[in-house]
Amino acid sequence: MYMAAGDARRLPLSNSSVDLVVTSPPYWQKRDYGFPQQIGRERTVEEYVASLLSVLSELRRVLTASGSVFLNIGDTYVDGSLAGVPSHLEIAARRAGWLIPNRIVWAKPSGMPSPHRTRLVARHEAIFHLTPNADYFYDLDGYLQSMDDRVDSGDVWTIPLRPNKTRHLAPFPPEIAERAIHLACPRRACVRCGRPERRRVEATAELNPARPQARRAMELARERGITDDHIRAIRATGICDAGKAQQWQTGAGKNTDLIQVLAAEAKEKLGGYFREFTFPLRKTVGFQPSCRCRQGMRRGIVLDPFAGTGTSLQVAASMKRIGIGFDYEVEHLQLAEAQAVGAEAIPGNAGHAAA
Ligand SMILES: C[S@@+](CC[C@H](N)C(=O)[O-])C[C@H]1O[C@@H](n2cnc3c(N)ncnc32)[C@H](O)[C@@H]1O
Repeated sequence: MYMAAGDARRLPLSNSSVDLVVTSPPYWQKRDYGFPQQIGRERTVEEYVASLLSVLSELRRVLTASGSVFLNIGDTYVDGSLAGVPSHLEIAARRAGWLIPNRIVWAKPSGMPSPHRTRLVARHEAIFHLTPNADYFYDLDGYLQSMDDRVDSGDVWTIPLRPNKTRHLAPFPPEIAERAIHLACPRRACVRCGRPERRRVEATAELNPARPQARRAMELARERGITDDHIRAIRATGICDAGKAQQWQTGAGKNTDLIQVLAAEAKEKLGGYFREFTFPLRKTVGFQPSCRCRQGMRRGIVLDPFAGTGTSLQVAASMKRIGIGFDYEVEHLQLAEAQAVGAEAIPGNAGHAAA
């Protein structure tokens, strides 16, 4: 893990050198970090969003072509109304050319009560997944396999708030970084072109035993004599019977009569549970480079330009990625160093590497 003092708008990193950014910038008008270059004290929400856009433009410079940003942002009340900070940022980022594959809702299952009697307590924040290019690295299989039954493929992340250990910093649950890294930071990338290693997966005959509906579907299949041919037929016809798998089709874009008969039989025996068999359990069979450079691989690199106490970087190190962080406030870096685990220096860069 590597951390140094620096302004998020001017990072001492080369172009196309980072695979993923996971960050939580200072929220608008929430706290005063006490230095003039700080982001978050702007007079208007428009000025604040303009500051974040200059950070995003710097992030676009340092990201590889397949890179992504996961940015956690909260809203602020002004004169009894939400200022709409996440919405302003989302629109401005789209106008600046960013793609937004997801606006993830971070739902907090509990929290402090509020003194306000005229509105509900805010228990969610936005996490934007932003990317400059449509061909971004994304490992949904890795995410689902590694996080077991803690997650599904939905865009609502229910993650409890961790108690704030320090006086200065907003708590940032490590699980947000963990999820973002599983999804969008390759384990390794080519040292020459930066292209990511890709996971190779194969569909199995099994279903995901973590899903209760899938467990019931497998039970029914055993009880009612469903064969592998039935399951292949269900997968070939899919939910709407329109035909999915080319290898089971006649060549005229249609399923053979036998496939239709087997699928109908299986659907009759399984009722609504037949749908479960259209989502087979996928297993990892290996990893492979996505380029032909053959120059060797480096670990995936995660950047946090508002590193604070270094949560994202510590998670990155624990997941065998390289974590790089900057924060304008050196005091925060010292706190981060004190808390660092699994730290790792990056040769050739100035600054301090926490051990
Ligand atoms: C919300 S905190 C980050 C919390 C962090 N996610 C954590 O887990 O501790 C925001 C951080 O941004 C830093 N900051 C504010 N303006 C900055 C700027 N222009 N460049 C770099 N860091 C800045 C603050 O010092 C603060 O540590």
